[in-house]
Amino acid sequence: MAIIGAGSVGSSIAFACLMRSVVSELLINDFNAKVCEGQVLDLQDAAFVSSTKVRVGTPKECGQADIIVITAGARQKPNETRDELVLRNEDILKSVLDGLQPIKPSAILVLVANPVNILTCMAQKLSGLPSHQVIGTGTFLDSIRFRVAMKERLAVSETSVHAYVVGDHGDKQVAVWSSARVGGKPLVSFEELKGIDRVGEAKKVARKAYGIIDLKGATSFGIAAVVSDLALCITLNKLTVIPLSTYCERFNACLSFPVSLGTNGIERIVYPDMDENEIAMVEASAKTTRDACAKYMN
Ligand code: 2OP
Repeated sequence: MAIIGAGSVGSSIAFACLMRSVVSELLINDFNAKVCEGQVLDLQDAAFVSSTKVRVGTPKECGQADIIVITAGARQKPNETRDELVLRNEDILKSVLDGLQPIKPSAILVLVANPVNILTCMAQKLSGLPSHQVIGTGTFLDSIRFRVAMKERLAVSETSVHAYVVGDHGDKQVAVWSSARVGGKPLVSFEELKGIDRVGEAKKVARKAYGIIDLKGATSFGIAAVVSDLALCITLNKLTVIPLSTYCERFNACLSFPVSLGTNGIERIVYPDMDENEIAMVEASAKTTRDACAKYMN
């Protein structure tokens, strides 16, 4: 597995994967060779609790990894939206993809940098890999945040809250309340949620990252846990259904929807049932993403 970008996100992902022994070897690459070497030396001090080896990888070596995680990119400043990063991060992604070439034909490319749906669309076009092997972390973390919010209200484990945030990993994300369930019971039928301000609750989930960025400058541990989980899904061919960014024919845009993920990448998209309002909100965010990706969607 290779991680491109050794900043707070990339190094946290490396640490999470190391602690979970997700892979046998971790290659870390960053344009700042000094920072990259420092992160690797520090990670090597933690490796005694793991079966994973970690070292610096050249771009060419990283291009031959089975899983290539791209975190390189500018991060949001306080109150900056993820969409405002697009121009800076498109250029960075182009140079990263060029450096990785030739990319291993069976590699799974995982986009983490934002705006993740747009960068995933771009990488699906420019990487040379089949699109089912090019994924973005999408609304996986948003869905976790939504599930944890319901856990706190209902005293149930977030792993028993089958609820998804879909579409945009950003301000236009859509929490799918209508088909969410806890165990076999519809989420909206719980007494504790009667009269809940669904829009307000969804906004709190969408704004969680901004609050963390205000306090510590960036988010890192949540996304690191997310990437270590989806890397396990790939290495073990678990086929777990996870909301990730990919091209969605139904909306003709690169959006985040539940997909089954395994060693070959995305096996299928599992669209949740949505009510008219939810579909309309997804279609609105699909238009924004489609317009931003127009130059990559032939
Ligand atoms: C997050 O949602 C900033 O996209 C990052 O944590």
